[in-house]
Amino acid sequence: MKISVIGCGYVGLVSGFCFADSGHKVTCIDNNDQKIKLLKDNKVPIYEPGLNELLLKNIENGNLAFELNISENIKDSEIVLIAVGTPTGKNGDANLTFVYQCAREIAEFISPNTQIIIKSTVPVGTCDEVENIIKENCIHSEFSVISNPEFLREGNAISDFINPDRVVIGTDDQTNKRIMINLYKSITNEDKILFTSRRSSELIKYASNSMLAMRIIFINEIADLCEKIGADVTDIAKGIGLDKRIGPHFLEPGPGFGGSCFPKDARALIESGKKYDAPQTLLESVILGNENRKKNISKKILNKLDKQTENQIGILGVTFKAETDDMRESPSLIIIPDLQENGMNISVYDPEGEKEASKILKDVNWKKSAYEAAENVDCLVILTDWEEFKNLDLDKIKNSMKRPLIYDFRNIFDPDMMTELGFEYFSIGRG
Ligand code: NAD
Ligand code: UGA
Repeated sequence: MKISVIGCGYVGLVSGFCFADSGHKVTCIDNNDQKIKLLKDNKVPIYEPGLNELLLKNIENGNLAFELNISENIKDSEIVLIAVGTPTGKNGDANLTFVYQCAREIAEFISPNTQIIIKSTVPVGTCDEVENIIKENCIHSEFSVISNPEFLREGNAISDFINPDRVVIGTDDQTNKRIMINLYKSITNEDKILFTSRRSSELIKYASNSMLAMRIIFINEIADLCEKIGADVTDIAKGIGLDKRIGPHFLEPGPGFGGSCFPKDARALIESGKKYDAPQTLLESVILGNENRKKNISKKILNKLDKQTENQIGILGVTFKAETDDMRESPSLIIIPDLQENGMNISVYDPEGEKEASKILKDVNWKKSAYEAAENVDCLVILTDWEEFKNLDLDKIKNSMKRPLIYDFRNIFDPDMMTELGFEYFSIGRG
């Protein structure tokens, strides 16, 4: 099939590259000229494992191309997939400017019978509005708008895309269903496809992200309780996760959830609840609890230090989680400025995050390795669980620190082992 993908971010590039790799002819379009220039030079503008390889392979076999403008480039595409950003708007609702702008731009150029797939995460009713915008601006009316939300995680995106738990497709039309089955047949089995109405499909995406965010805030609060009463959150997570009704995933405590989606999607669902007079009170406390958690992290660290004499802190990992360069709503964006306001000097090492993070984090000393970040510090703080942090030479780390104090907000080390090695080691929920 001939596919145009609009938006060369995490979702657009992964979807576009994976469809190209499964044999479709894909053109990826973005209005950011720097991104398109990089892509045309065979360079991926984001860090996502495996994308480089897919880019080179599918450029070579002629399945992948890049363009700056929507215009003529989308003519003859059977599928136009919209994967532009839907950031938090003024009131907490989703800002749909980019999606509606795309709708207006494509209307002029789509050929009859084009399927427009909305991959971006959008509130209920957005596909209806996209359809109206295209109708108003298109000379023919033979097109369809289909909701097909994406569930990939950054850092694991290709694997999630080609091995999905489910593919949700919102359409009531039988022809559309057949076309979507055809599109996905080289990616996954037909029995993974869940057809729903467009509105249900739009809501499934928000409900999924919000449910996962709720689990994280729940286990974080249980971890706080564990610290106070001398229980171990790892055992609690295991103990509850063995119940098949609960399951083991997304029960790892941390410094608070971040990223481009959980916070924004939970906020948008709260706003939808207000709009339709169906309050989402659980989610309101999830957002509040998560914001408070991020603010409290610096207090936990500062409590372990003598502020008169100890003001050097090393940070390992600043992106919102490991295996990504994405800084959007990362806990580090709250934690590091809080520490700086309290007079701390900050050294940072992140395996992939420096380029993005240095645009936002001010007055930090960037280091080229975890060992450099640990040199002469009074405390080393672990904020993300990159694989390389788990394999550090801990004796080397200890010997280079001024005080062998580690605060690990991802529980990557065994507390007994760390004490035996001579560290003052603090982690979360392991009281
Ligand atoms: P992103 O910000 O990384 O990329 C969006 C891209 O769209 C940018 O490159 C931007 O330049 C481009 N764009 C905006 N307006 C455009 C226009 N009119 N024409 C052409 N290009 C335009 O976004 P993302 O993280 O890939 O997310 C995209 C959507 O997918 C969001 O709705 C998000 O909630 C959803 N989503 C994201 C993830 C994720 O892991 N990042 C996972 C599932 C769903
Ligand atoms: C999340 C969802 O997992 C995807 O299914 C969804 O498609 C995506 O949002 C989206 O809509 O954008 P992502 O944001 O890439 O994916 O990252 P996650 O792995 O879900 O982590 C989100 C945040 O929760 C991170 O800050 C992470 O550190 C935190 N987290 C996750 C925990 O603190 N504990 C856990 O057990 C899991």
